[in-house]
Amino acid sequence: MSTSVICPGSFDPPTLGHLDVFHRVAASFDRVVIAVVVNPDKAGTFTPEERLELIAASLGEHEHVELITFEGLLVDLCRDQGIRVVCKGLRTVGDFEYEHQMAQMNRHLAGVETVFLSSAPEHAHLSSSLIKQIAAAGGPLTGLVSPPVQAALQARYA
Ligand code: PNS
Repeated sequence: MSTSVICPGSFDPPTLGHLDVFHRVAASFDRVVIAVVVNPDKAGTFTPEERLELIAASLGEHEHVELITFEGLLVDLCRDQGIRVVCKGLRTVGDFEYEHQMAQMNRHLAGVETVFLSSAPEHAHLSSSLIKQIAAAGGPLTGLVSPPVQAALQARYA
């Protein structure tokens, strides 16, 4: 039985929904690797390193949680880390369709299993892209992101 898990994603920026999933996963697995994808074709609002710093500043200390960036296939990262389980949060049926396809592909490619955590109802409407639209227009970010992420967004869109 695996007690290690990878939580991959863009996290540009991390939302309170992402953080809730990280906390819940950290409570259930012995080793958690949070992996921020590096997309050479898409700059993003924050660099992958900035996103890692925002996750670290928001999450607090967890001895068994590691924060890394990765480029390339998730299944290759799983092999390199010696981990065969991925965990993703699910907000909506729309998320499920996209995530289910990726889960099946990762299982096809390398036997990597995916487990899903149902998002907390109070986080189901949170998305990084919507939050960036709100930040760009100077709207309120309280209840959507952590204080460090809120400060980073306000500085970025000042
Ligand atoms: O937060 P996101 O953008 O939904 O995360 C998507 C992510 C990073 C998990 C996905 O794009 C991914 O796994 N990218 C790595 C490349 C890869 O393995 N692609 C094939 C997936 S089946």
